[in-house]
Amino acid sequence: MPITLRDFRNPDFETLWTIDQRCFPPGISYSRLELAAYIRRPRAFAIVAEDVPAIIPQPSTFKSAYKKRLQIAGFIVAEASLRNLGHIITIDVLPEYRRSGVGSRLLLAAEQRLQATGCSGIVLEAAVDNQTALSFYQRHGFSQFNKVERYYPNGTDAAILRKDLLSAPQAS
Ligand SMILES: CC(C)(COP(=O)(O)OP(=O)(O)OC[C@H]1O[C@@H](n2cnc3c(N)ncnc32)[C@H](O)[C@@H]1OP(=O)(O)O)[C@@H](O)C(=O)NCCC(=O)NCCS
Repeated sequence: MPITLRDFRNPDFETLWTIDQRCFPPGISYSRLELAAYIRRPRAFAIVAEDVPAIIPQPSTFKSAYKKRLQIAGFIVAEASLRNLGHIITIDVLPEYRRSGVGSRLLLAAEQRLQATGCSGIVLEAAVDNQTALSFYQRHGFSQFNKVERYYPNGTDAAILRKDLLSAPQAS
């Protein structure tokens, strides 16, 4: 699958918000205002995974023209705190692209960027009933060190996970 990663651009916003609505249940997914505020935080960045699903021949009188359709398959929003701690704000991969490494590529790209800015570790929150996310993060070296009760607006508890970047092998 020809997935490429690139930085977020403003015209992506509505697509990213729609993906977030598909990835999380109500009460955990972000409102437009919340997602925009996270992306705009001064030390935040967003990386987009883009797929080129098809090359569609376009009818033309004189020659064949081809139009590439690009589709965003997923994205990650992360930030570096002033205390040099990275924070994964969200990672979202569309269901049809899951289990093919897109989430891993996004996470590793964010880890590399956070490491490059001097972060010594990364923290994140995941709903305690989100077994997929917990397995995904465990696979990537995160472990739970805390729990916050009723963290999410729908009343679900959050597991707080951490990965130490200093002892972890360099992300590649
Ligand atoms: C979590 C998420 C980002 C993973 O994205 P992905 O592209 O499917 O992840 P990858 O294909 O890179 O998976 C890497 C590994 O994570 C683990 N993993 C991923 N999905 C899993 C699942 N459903 N069940 C168990 N393990 C899983 C596996 O170890 C997997 O490796 P494998 O496929 O070789 O077994 C994606 O499922 C998603 O967007 N979920 C909805 C949003 C969400 O919950 N985000 C995280 C909370 S902030």
